[in-house]
Order: sequence, then structure tokens, then C-alpha cells
Amino acid sequence: MPLRNGQHGYGVVTRSLHWLTVLLVAAQFAVGYTMETERRDPRIDCDPPGESRGGGDTSDAEEDRLDRIEERCEERRERLEEAVDAQEDRPSPLHVVLGVLLLVVALARVTWRRLTPLPPWDPRLGPDGRRLLHATEVTLLATLVAMPLSGLLLVAGADDLVAAHVAAHLVFFAALAAHLGVVLARGLLPRMLPLR
Ligand code: HEM
Ligand code: HEM
Repeated sequence: MPLRNGQHGYGVVTRSLHWLTVLLVAAQFAVGYTMETERRDPRIDCDPPGESRGGGDTSDAEEDRLDRIEERCEERRERLEEAVDAQEDRPSPLHVVLGVLLLVVALARVTWRRLTPLPPWDPRLGPDGRRLLHATEVTLLATLVAMPLSGLLLVAGADDLVAAHVAAHLVFFAALAAHLGVVLARGLLPRMLPLR
């Protein structure tokens, strides 16, 4: 089978990049939806034992000592809470690695699409089908760049991009549903498989 696309249909490179993307995206969503990004609450109780004993039970010096211990503990707890806050939205390392890989593969696909002609349309696709399929392809490629880019910027400190990161997923799912709709309704799957 030729490497490049042509009259025969999609070549090996386009097909391999297509299914590599599908695999990586499936893995990435599985990781994204299951990873732990929640803030862990440092449960530190700063009331020293004996504090409840008040009044005549403890001397002033003892009360002062307990107060100082409690103050130091509260300072430590505050520092810990700040450190945990800073980590709040940190994704798992696997999520970052997969995201960067996907960005590289997406850019390789866009470059390859420019270097090799697209094959002739399948004759079963009318003008509307062609327009819809083309729109799904362009949107899918755009979200494949937008998802990792918004993720990287998010980690670099642009916290308000959480909404953009999640919105890009929703656009991706809508485009994927339309992509699958056209591909399956028109029986186009073999064009991307190593069957012909
Ligand atoms: C194609 C690439 C990517 C996909 C498909 C993806 C997918 C996801 C998904 C499904 C979630 C869970 C969202 C939710 O709970 O509703 C998520 C969260 C997150 N992702 Fe990604 N991600 C990608 C790339 C990246 C990259 C490259 C980074 C950073 C370097 C990143 C950083 C994050 C962060 C920080 C969160 C947590 C956001 C929060 O606070 O809920 N993502 N991602
Ligand atoms: C991550 C998900 C997906 C993305 C980003 C994606 C993207 C694309 C793109 C950009 C093309 C145009 C060819 C190219 O430039 O590479 C294409 C074609 C195609 N895709 Fe997908 N796709 C995805 C998932 C799927 C799935 C799950 C299937 C099958 C069940 C599928 C079946 C096809 C077929 C059959 C074609 C050829 C259509 C034709 O020209 O007749 N795709 N896809």
C-alpha cells in the first residue's frame, strides 16, 4: 500500500496517524476523567491536649506555653494549606505526557495533510455529505490542538482556562459524533482500514 494518499485512497501514513490519534485520545479521556485533581485538606488539629483544662487547673505560664504551641501549629497549617492550594489543578504526569504526544501527532497530521493530496471523495457522498464530513475533520483537528494547548496554559497558571479546556472537549465530542454518523451511515469505514 502506498505511503501517500492518491487515486487509490488513503495511504499508510494517513491511516496510521488516524488510528494512533484515536488510541491516544481514548487513553487521554480515560486518564482525564479518572485522575485525582481534588485538593486534599490537611486535617491538622492545632488544639493542644490539655487546652480544655482551663481556669484553676493550669498556671498562667502553662497557658502561655500552650498558646504559643497552638500559634506555631496554626502558622504551619496555613503554609501547608497554601502549598496544597497551589497544587489544586495539577494533572497527573501521564495526562501531560499523553497531551503533549497528542499535540505533536495533531501537528504532524495537519502538516501531512498539506504535503499529500486528499484522495477522491467516496462516490456515495453527495455535496452535503462532503461538506459535513469535511467540517467534522477540520473541527476534530482544531480541537486536537485546542485541548492540549488549553491544558498546557492551564498548568502554566492561566486558571480561567479550565472552562476553555472543558469546552474544547464538548466541541470535540459533538464533532466526533457527527464524524461517526457520516462515516457509519455511508459505510466509509473500510477507506481508513488496511483493507483496500
Ligand atoms: C488532547 C489532549 C487532552 C485531553 C483530551 C484532555 C482531557 C481532559 C479531561 C477529560 C479532563 C477532566 C475534565 C473534567 O473533569 O470535566 C481534563 C482535566 C484537566 N486537564 Fe486535560 N486533556 C488534554 C490535555 C491536557 C494537557 C496537555 C494538560 C496540561 C499540561 C492538561 C491539564 C488538565 C488539567 C489541569 C485538568 C484539571 C482541570 C480541573 O481543574 O478540573 N490537559 N483534561
Ligand atoms: C479521535 C477521533 C478522530 C479524529 C480526530 C478523526 C479525524 C479524521 C480526519 C482528520 C480525517 C480526514 C483524513 C485525515 O486527514 O487524516 C478522518 C477520516 C476518516 N475517519 Fe476519522 N477521526 C476520528 C475518529 C474516527 C473513528 C472512531 C472512526 C471510525 C469508527 C473514523 C473513521 C474515519 C474514516 C472512515 C475516514 C475517511 C473518510 C473518507 O474520506 O471517506 N474516525 N478522520
